[in-house]
Amino acid sequence: MKDMETIRQAAEIVKRGGIVAFPTETVYGLGADVFNPLAVARVFEVKQRPYFDPLIVHIASYNDLEKLVMEIPSDAKGLMGRFWPGPLTVVLLKRTEVPDLVTAGLPTVAVRMPKHPMTLRLIELVDSPIVGPSANPFGYLSPTTAEHVQDQLGGQIDFILDGGPCEVGVESTILSFSERKPRLLRPGGVPIEEIQSIIGEVEMIPTGGGRPSAPGMLPKHYAPRTPIKLDWSKKNLDSYRKKKIGLLAFQESKNFLKFRQVEVLSKKGDFREAAANLFSAIRRLDALNLDLILAETVPEVGLGRAIMDRLRRASSKGKTN
Ligand code: TXA
Ligand code: MG
Repeated sequence: MKDMETIRQAAEIVKRGGIVAFPTETVYGLGADVFNPLAVARVFEVKQRPYFDPLIVHIASYNDLEKLVMEIPSDAKGLMGRFWPGPLTVVLLKRTEVPDLVTAGLPTVAVRMPKHPMTLRLIELVDSPIVGPSANPFGYLSPTTAEHVQDQLGGQIDFILDGGPCEVGVESTILSFSERKPRLLRPGGVPIEEIQSIIGEVEMIPTGGGRPSAPGMLPKHYAPRTPIKLDWSKKNLDSYRKKKIGLLAFQESKNFLKFRQVEVLSKKGDFREAAANLFSAIRRLDALNLDLILAETVPEVGLGRAIMDRLRRASSKGKTN
């Protein structure tokens, strides 16, 4: 099979210390062998990611998990059984063998088993877990197609494994088990309601306040070049009359005439479809040299929570780092 040959080629590159973009169900990742600090350092460099921001490690089996973590609390085990492979990342106490560079010196490591057959095979062939931050320059929108990766990092990485567009479209939900109570560090592809229905109460970090314990929680993140505005009202559209504005609509709406361009995330108002389209739609608007993108808000339930989290960060006026 043609795919098999390509995956084998990607695996060889990772084994030799190269860096390879890989598909997952959430967004594309930038992979390197977790136990090769030089390769991991190149991932930070290419992304221009600060070294204080730890990476998620991707595994293909529970055998891989044993190479990374000390013990697995029973709640975490239950969630893995239910959601892996899938968009859930768990933060657990790490083994000393996991390089400090990967975890930014933290005593914990973030791990997930992605749901994409090509990447699961890639990890098996490399025969080692691989790190995988989203394959975008730090602070910018995450890539959901191989073309997005090519556009932004193409010249700087060794290979792009094209697995088609990402099905989920927003990053994994990150849950930490490093303290007494499980803690939500980032809303994502698995709705927190589904997690709570299995393990009960989960601590939530209020968005926007304090120093982030997951740097992906930095207020400004996932940002396009064009400013995005969330707090606006249809009544005041005339005040933008002189500007080239685009609309990021959740569902079909009626005020389309006033906009240069409109992207509808899901005509039927379906969260899954909206999440899968989110980053691509923002990218298309961002490519038009608009003065401003006005975004509609969505209800913060289920996947709506992850969508709003990304929109809020994309629209934050804070400094990008
Ligand atoms: O869906 C995803 O999770 C994607 C795909 C490629 O798997 N990956 C991803 O990685 O979103 P990245 O690097 O863009 O975001 C990882 C987040 C960062 O916010 C980082 O701070 C947090 O995970 N993180 C990693 N290790 C951590 C740890 N030990 N403790 C707390 N947060 C951690
Ligand atoms: Mg990212």
